[in-house]
Amino acid sequence: MARGDNISKPAGVTKHESRPVAPRQDSRARFQAGCVDDADRHDDDFLATGFPVAERQGYIHRMSLIRPDIDRIDGYVPGEQPQDSGWTKLNTNENPYPPSPRVAEAITRAANGRLNVYPDPLGTQVRQQIAELFEVDPDWVIPANGSDENLTIITRTFADASDVIAYPYPSYILYESLAGIQGAKHERILLNPDWSWNWSETTPVTDWAKIVFVPNPNSPSGNRWSDEDVVRLVPPRGVLVLDGAYADFADVRSKAELLRHSDVGRRIIVTRTLSKSYSLAGIRSGFAIAHPDLIAAMRKVKDSYNCDSLTLAGTLAALQDQDWMLANVARIQATRARLTESLQQLSFDVVPSQANFVWATRATGGHREIYESLKAQKILVRYMRFPDVPFASNNLLDGLRITVGTDAEIDRLLEVLKTLI
Ligand SMILES: Cc1ncc(COP(=O)(O)O)c(C=O)c1O
Repeated sequence: MARGDNISKPAGVTKHESRPVAPRQDSRARFQAGCVDDADRHDDDFLATGFPVAERQGYIHRMSLIRPDIDRIDGYVPGEQPQDSGWTKLNTNENPYPPSPRVAEAITRAANGRLNVYPDPLGTQVRQQIAELFEVDPDWVIPANGSDENLTIITRTFADASDVIAYPYPSYILYESLAGIQGAKHERILLNPDWSWNWSETTPVTDWAKIVFVPNPNSPSGNRWSDEDVVRLVPPRGVLVLDGAYADFADVRSKAELLRHSDVGRRIIVTRTLSKSYSLAGIRSGFAIAHPDLIAAMRKVKDSYNCDSLTLAGTLAALQDQDWMLANVARIQATRARLTESLQQLSFDVVPSQANFVWATRATGGHREIYESLKAQKILVRYMRFPDVPFASNNLLDGLRITVGTDAEIDRLLEVLKTLI
């Protein structure tokens, strides 16, 4: 039996795809010389033999199938999403209130409509609605399959391997993952213990960055930086991404005013999501607003039909019902104030939050234990730990990020917390 005859071909691989097949001898010689390239993956012999042949093991190890950039990163780990019922879920900053009833109506109409045809690739109606709300022209807007998709599109559009992507630390960990996936260099900008900017550390990084990601309000802290700070962060040779995932929860709501800044406005990209204030984490919808030159470049990178018809219909309906969203935001702001005060009474330090969550720590620590005890009672908050923070004890900053739920959910949390502290 010829070597490899008993090993089936990897599923979905045709022996001779469109690429030319490298001569077997030539391929082996090249492997022995240590210069295996992509063409060799289509070697007839490689496809026929599959992976676990002893003689080939060195080949696989030497030429990992995985890109080294991907091999070396851990990958972003999202918050827990338990699939059973009965949880008080305060860990991933979802809105505890349902979306506008107009959303389900619009999605149902779309579902009963023409699902056999592709959606509008540019999301024209959604763009028009966003343009009206943010007082820009529609060519300043790009809808996406969640804000995270726009962050991916931005990374792919503006940064290559030689560029630096910078972001405050601690903040949203996804920025680091995206930079890693792109194979770009990345730099954390270490914040002060009170979550303000340490400008002597910040400016040398932003001066050379191609992309600076700034979540405002920040996560996990919930603080909001001033517009003056944000303008100072715009990299002279790159773009600033103002990630407004939680912007609607701030006491003063912002639109896209900074895009009109005479000096730096053309290098700012505002991103927003419908996952939080609009209660639509389940349908994955977000959008970005920026100068049309930047948006046009991002369009080249996005999937042609990145938002499906149901998402576009639901998004439009949600955006058209501003009163519904604002009423939910007001309830969350009121509960946020009560939660903050109650946690402080339980000897937690709480950063004044402008988001729909609070960052709570105790001088005595024990955060992980508190998280686990709450979880044992089916209350889920987010335990977060950030290594390499010099001002934290043992260089490790940890704490609890608690989403502002309904009043009843927060009552339950506080009741159990009181028994633990
Ligand atoms: C700072 C920040 N940006 C973006 C996102 C992602 O938003 P989306 O659900 O629209 O992908 C999150 C989600 O938690 C976030 O915390």
